[in-house]
Amino acid sequence: MGKKVTKPVIELKNVWKTYDMGETKVHALRGVSLKIEEGEFVAVVGPSGSGKSTMMHIVGCLDVPSKGVVSLNGRDIATLHESDLAQTRGKSIGFIFQQFNLLPMLTAEENVALPMLFQGINRQKQLQQAQQLLKQLGLRDRMDHKPTELSGGQRQRVAIARALANTPNVVLADEPTGNLDSKTGKEVMEILADLHFKKGKTVILVTHDIDLVKHAERVIYLKDGMIEKIKRNGKK
Ligand SMILES: Nc1ncnc2c1ncn2[C@@H]1O[C@H](COP(=O)(O)OP(=O)(O)O)[C@@H](O)[C@H]1O
Ligand SMILES: [Mg+2]
Repeated sequence: MGKKVTKPVIELKNVWKTYDMGETKVHALRGVSLKIEEGEFVAVVGPSGSGKSTMMHIVGCLDVPSKGVVSLNGRDIATLHESDLAQTRGKSIGFIFQQFNLLPMLTAEENVALPMLFQGINRQKQLQQAQQLLKQLGLRDRMDHKPTELSGGQRQRVAIARALANTPNVVLADEPTGNLDSKTGKEVMEILADLHFKKGKTVILVTHDIDLVKHAERVIYLKDGMIEKIKRNGKK
């Protein structure tokens, strides 16, 4: 393996996230600082409620911190207008959720085309790209199916295709196999690992899959809204 030139694509500086629940405040993140370098494969682990999803939403710029700074490609996202942020995020980051989050009224093809619509890509190009991605993910004969007409593994592959629609550099996945049986989960994990190992994408993955955690370059351990430790896996 050659040496990699790295630069942070996403950086969190002393990020806090507090949910105001009226009487009480929930500190979901308590001073998280983190640099994600281009082309990295990072696993995030930690017990339920430790702040993994909250951190992923902030890393993916789907949510903003209560305190602290988030930079995307070197720019503090607080300085971007909402529409510019949505645009930049849509181009550079693909998000995969445990619950798939597909739109039920749309077909697989239409779900995958949607992020391209928001980037102003013409309809013909959207559908071409959606079809190509779905074919690559083994869903050639499922393009016209609605989510309810698909198995869990197929739904997650549609969601992966959707995450890749705008060819993002960064792919974030939050417990993507949490709703899948173990065999289907393995298949989905292989697709995600390939995005890093074969396509060179920056991949950040929340998972309990020990095998996959072993393959990650760094493992971030979250506990009570803080980074407990970061382990760097040795590379052969
Ligand atoms: N929208 C919300 N409103 C209030 N509390 C929340 C919200 N989202 C998460 N939390 C709380 O923040 C903490 C971290 O949650 P989360 O990030 O989902 O953890 P994990 O993904 O590690 O299970 C938990 O205590 C959770 O109950
Ligand atoms: Mg979670």
